[in-house]
Amino acid sequence: MDKFRISGGRPLKGRVSISGAKNSALPCMAAAVLTPETVILHNLPYVRDIITQRRLLEDIGATVLTPELRTHKITAAHIELFEAPYELVKTMRASVLALGPLLARFGKAKVSLPGGCAIGTRPIDLHLAGFEKLGAEVKLEAGNVVARAPRDGRLRGGEIHFEKITVTGTENLMMAATLAWGRTTLYNAAREPEITDLAELLNKMGARIRGAGTSTIQVDGVEALGGAEHTIIPDRIEAGTFIIAAAMTAGELEIKDCRPEHSAALIAKLREAGVELQELNPTTLHVGGAMKLTASDVTTQPHPDFPTDMQAQYMALMTQAQGRSQIVETVFENRFMHTSELQRMGARIHIDGSRATVDGVTRLTGAPVIASDLRASASLVLAGLVAEGETVVDRVYHIDRGYEKIEAKLRAVGADIERVRESVTAPPGATAEADAAVV
Ligand code: EPZ
Repeated sequence: MDKFRISGGRPLKGRVSISGAKNSALPCMAAAVLTPETVILHNLPYVRDIITQRRLLEDIGATVLTPELRTHKITAAHIELFEAPYELVKTMRASVLALGPLLARFGKAKVSLPGGCAIGTRPIDLHLAGFEKLGAEVKLEAGNVVARAPRDGRLRGGEIHFEKITVTGTENLMMAATLAWGRTTLYNAAREPEITDLAELLNKMGARIRGAGTSTIQVDGVEALGGAEHTIIPDRIEAGTFIIAAAMTAGELEIKDCRPEHSAALIAKLREAGVELQELNPTTLHVGGAMKLTASDVTTQPHPDFPTDMQAQYMALMTQAQGRSQIVETVFENRFMHTSELQRMGARIHIDGSRATVDGVTRLTGAPVIASDLRASASLVLAGLVAEGETVVDRVYHIDRGYEKIEAKLRAVGADIERVRESVTAPPGATAEADAAVV
């Protein structure tokens, strides 16, 4: 299993370009199943989850051409398999996004029920309750969700009130509703930019969606959808990670090809904590110059508030900020796995349920640490960039799931980081798949 070896203490300087958003690319690729025509997606991040999603599409019978690395031409003309098998779902929870499109277009779908993962139990009960509201019969058989549309094979429009805000739940039901009879209204829907991006693609395919990006989404079902061409939005979490990398190393970075408007809550919080941030234009941010980081409390919430996917990276930043900060995680019940590893590097963090108390400024020292999930691994890399001496981050397959060549991007702006390829067999029980289902 690959590791990163990092020698800390170098300020990052230069320019970094942000890749496409993994959490938009995954549902947009699933959306291609809604039509027999070709969907062309540009600006796809070259990360492991996109490779897994591509495999899922090819397994069910779609063709995926890649005229160039970040462009996929997906044609789901001859779908023969209406299921996402356990083998794939256990490596990537987002495989459940196949449910809505398969059910909507073919009236049947079978998807392995994703188990829990490092950051929480993460049930999909709200997805399934939504499909039932659209007239589907949903059963659990041998660990699989088996869903069937009513006799004529077509879902019925309906009213869905999400008890809790769910991103992929909103995406799954929005996709399913595009081909249903009549109107569907989603209440208390998620408002993430990735949802607006998906709705934009679906409307280009001929769907009739209004209100994406607000908490009430209306979908008028149509008979069929067609092909379309779409460019995926930039990854706001990757951009946020690089902003914090510049701030923690007292460096200076120009972050290109990003969309600051998608990160308003994060940018406001970072400015409050003393990070010098300038929006040079709608796609470029400048971070840097003299900064005095001060402790600033934060609570994670669904968009447009502070994103849970930036919590671990923010915690690493707070170890370098003057004073005591409180970090409250409200979205996932077990998303402090990175804390014990940061403590191994000398961080002063106290956990009390969903609240973490961080004391700074702390001088971090390099140590061998283990990544437990995608964003936790990013926070360990950030800590390694400022720690004295050498940090070795193990199980970086987590970070490869959602960050495109992060070590190369960091090295290009002055970090002393390298990937150590290790062809050792995994210790008993520590299977890459078993640990990797955190998306
Ligand atoms: C999406 O996961 C993202 N993944 C996650 O990013 C992100 O952390 C999360 O949204 C929250 O922003 C993708 O988009 C592929 P949720 P999702 O359904 O949709 C509970 C990353 O690092 N819930 O919004 O699975 C759930 O347990 C990943 O890139 C139910 O109870 O998250 C959680 O506590 C990690 N029942 C909360 O709602 C349901 O049916 C929010 O989960 C669905 C969700």
